[in-house]
Formats: sequence, C-alpha cells, structure tokens
Amino acid sequence: MLYLDHAATTVVRPEVREVMAPFADEAFGNPSGIHGVSRRAKNAIEEARERAAALLGAAKPLEIIFTGGGTEADNLAVVGAALADGNRRRVVTSAIEHEAVLESARFAARLGCELRVVDVDASGRVAPREIAAAVGDGAVVSVMAANNETGAIQPLPEIANAARGAGRDVLVHTDAVQAFISEEVTVGTTSADMISLAAHKLGGPKGAGLLYVRDEITLEPVIHGGGQELGRRSGTHNVAGIVGLVTAMELSVADREDFRRRVRSARDAFEEALAAELGAVELTVNEPRLVQHSHLRFPGVLSETLLIRLDQAGIAAAAGSACHSGAIEMSHVLAAMGASDAVAAESVRFSFGWVNDVADGADAATRVAAVVGELR
Ligand SMILES: Cc1ncc(COP(=O)(O)O)c(C=O)c1O
Repeated sequence: MLYLDHAATTVVRPEVREVMAPFADEAFGNPSGIHGVSRRAKNAIEEARERAAALLGAAKPLEIIFTGGGTEADNLAVVGAALADGNRRRVVTSAIEHEAVLESARFAARLGCELRVVDVDASGRVAPREIAAAVGDGAVVSVMAANNETGAIQPLPEIANAARGAGRDVLVHTDAVQAFISEEVTVGTTSADMISLAAHKLGGPKGAGLLYVRDEITLEPVIHGGGQELGRRSGTHNVAGIVGLVTAMELSVADREDFRRRVRSARDAFEEALAAELGAVELTVNEPRLVQHSHLRFPGVLSETLLIRLDQAGIAAAAGSACHSGAIEMSHVLAAMGASDAVAAESVRFSFGWVNDVADGADAATRVAAVVGELR
C-alpha cells in the first residue's frame, strides 16, 4: 500500500516508540504520587515540558499544558480563553478551521459568547484585514497555521498583528497541528498567544498533544477533576504519550529541512508526472502551501469513487467531501472557498510523509492516472 494520507495520521517513529516503552513498563508510576515510582514519571513530564517550551520558544516551561491531543488543545484554547474569569469574550475564527476549533467556537457561542466566522478567498486564505474587521476589545482570535485539507498556509503573524491592532486585550490562538512537521512554528514565528499541537501528525502517538499558552493568560478549564497541569487540564498524565510527543517534536525540528526537501520532491514528482499523463492537474490552492500536501481536482471523477478505486490500486488518500445517501456533503473548507459542488465532489488530498520518495511520487502518478483514465 502506498500511503499518501499523512495529514490524517503518521506511523510512530522507531525512536519515539523506544523512548515511550519504559513508561508502559518499569516507569509506569502515576506522576501525581510522592514515592519513587511516581517521581520518575513526574520527572519525565517536567523534563518533557522544558524541552517542549524550548522548541516553541516559550518563556517558561509552565506555559506548556499537556493535553489528550489536538482537539483537546483547541477546545482548551478557544473555550478556555473565551470563558475565563467569568468573561464572555467574542470569538473570531475562520470558516476553514478544523472542526475542533469551529465546534469549540460554536459551543462558546451557546454559552453566551459572540461569534464571528470570517470567510476566506478562493485560494483558502484568511485576510488579516477581515480578521481586524471582526475583532473587538477582548476578542479571542483562532486561525490555523495551515489548513489540514488543502495545505494552504495562513498569513500568521500578519493576522495576529492585525487582530491586536483592532482591539485592546486581544488573544490570538493558532492550531499548528498540520504545520509543525514542515514549517517553523514558534511563539516568535506565529506571534500567537496560544499554539495547539498533536503528536500523531509528527510520527508520535495518538492521544497526546499540547497547548502553549502565554504565562499571563488565564484559561477556564474544560476538563475538571484532580487538578493536574495546575488545574488547567485534569486527568492522570499520559506519561508515555507526553514523552513520545516531545521526542517527535524534537525529531521534527531537527529533520525539518531534510523532510521539506524529501517530501517536496516526492510531491512535485507526483504532480509533474500526473500532469504529463493527464494533460494537466488542477490544484485547489496556490502557493504558499504545505510541501507535503497535494490537493487536486479531477474534473468528471467523483472523489468517493476515485478513493475506493485508488484503495483497490494500493493507494491510500482522502477527501473532505463525502457522499451520504446519494447527496454530496460538501467539505466546509471548499465551501468557504466558494468552490462549486462539482469542484468539492471531485477533489482529493494526497499527503506525503517521511517514507515517500521521488519514486513513490512517480509510481503514485501512474496509478492515479490509470484509475482516473478508467473512470473517465
Ligand atoms: C488542523 C487540525 N487540528 C486539529 C486536529 C485534531 O487533532 P487530534 O486528532 O489530535 O485530536 C487535526 C487532526 O485531524 C487537524 O488536522
């Protein structure tokens, strides 16, 4: 199987698996206890926190909150910031956010927060001036670093600067879950007050993530219980997951340039060979886009049918639009870009990873072109 669905999830890297193993075994302790078994787990978490803070350019380790993944980090950022200190802050977000942000924003709205959802242009980009127009004093702004479906890279920190220029006490969150593996994501490069990450997109385990949150910011917890993570995220720590997350982050940063080079050449070889076989390829977004993403439209071919036939041909890919009982449920990302029903129904995401090389790109193009040819 040629796996071209790395934006959905990645295989755990061997180095990550190795550092996680002891925490399922001799270092299994609950980090909240006081005895030696617990201390070993607690030390591992606090060391991981320091390493994560250094990687993100955070001022203090306690600005890192470990969560149960990207969705949880997004919920804590959006709901937690909107409702903290008894406030009902306005939430400003974009129409192409991951559901983890959009549904959190809608939940905050049900609890009394004003919600403004900003549209994007035809290439899936959020305009800083549109964000500025929606912001008011005390707003929480959430715009992703790069889109999971199309790969469109968003103009942070211009968005953050525009938002802060449009109101007092504005908080900026970015979901960098897709971007981190290939783009430099730090407090400095994003200009964000809060950053969400997830391990499983980086060769780390599922169910582990973090939220960076600037020291001065208070968050209303969304998970209540034993008061772990300074009361900001209760629940016994996933020690192996946290160690795996931070190791995956370190490896991603150390290997980022190599990853970019390798994945870009695989992706470009794929698109070039496909264009040669089919006459042209229709990209749904222009540059800047993530080097690992190839989001394409195949006119006249339904993505659902294409994905099933590609699976049979040994290629794993994905689409944002889905067909339910004969009706096409349009991807909210493509809908926000103003795409027609036809474009939405005919678009497929191929996302490349570490394991792929130029030969894979060419091989994938041959197989995709053959299937598209048959379906047409
Ligand atoms: C941009 C983005 N945000 C959030 C998530 C959710 O992260 P998790 O799967 O760790 O809950 C994903 C994963 O699909 C994503 O792509």
